[in-house]
Amino acid sequence: MDTKPTLNKDLEKQVAAKAAVKYIKANDIVGLGTGSTAFFVLQEIALLVKEGLKIKGVATSEKTAELAVNMGIELLEMNDVQRIDITIDGADEFTESLQLIKGGGGALFREKIVASLTDKEIIIADSGKKVELLGKFTVPVEVVPLALNYVLRKLAQLNGKGKLRNKEDQTPFVTDNQNYIVDADFGLITNPADLANSLNQIDGVLAHGLFINLTAMVIMGKGAEAIIYSGN
Ligand code: A5P
Repeated sequence: MDTKPTLNKDLEKQVAAKAAVKYIKANDIVGLGTGSTAFFVLQEIALLVKEGLKIKGVATSEKTAELAVNMGIELLEMNDVQRIDITIDGADEFTESLQLIKGGGGALFREKIVASLTDKEIIIADSGKKVELLGKFTVPVEVVPLALNYVLRKLAQLNGKGKLRNKEDQTPFVTDNQNYIVDADFGLITNPADLANSLNQIDGVLAHGLFINLTAMVIMGKGAEAIIYSGN
């Protein structure tokens, strides 16, 4: 079995995570992302906290909250913060213009609320996540279960092929908010902002994985190098 690609990816994730945590300052409120890339950030933050850095985290998922607590990172509830200084999270795809698809791990709703509360949203990624146009990765859509079939029909009207996400045992994947995820294939997306607006208007859609104009910077690991894409 060839494990090299995964190892290289993990190295790139780690390189990006190490570069990203340099933007955290003492006493910051820090949004904590979800997924295998964001996990490296949790590890880096836990090290800094052990060395004495004072920060408080806001988790984007139950899983991240559990990991953070186990690593000794103090947490705040989302409802108890008015703003977040900096968030470091992963993505499934990003473009150089800092538009993203997120939600492969199913945490898109909380990730979006955290991103919206955040002054500086930093996305970290391995080099395989960079694309010219979003859409090879399907767009995750969090759907209130009783509206599933209605939403699938609405997605079809937008030329999206929606598929209910199942777990390995073939029962539906259920989010932290007790909803379903539909993974919607729109092909390559030439105007993500327009599609995001259309998805926002479907009743029964709690959130979707198109993150438009929410990101200040993407840090991509490429080999041992951290490459920065920034809006400024
Ligand atoms: C979680 O819901 C996502 O938005 C993740 O940030 C995204 O899926 C990237 O995950 P990995 O870092 O595991 O690739």
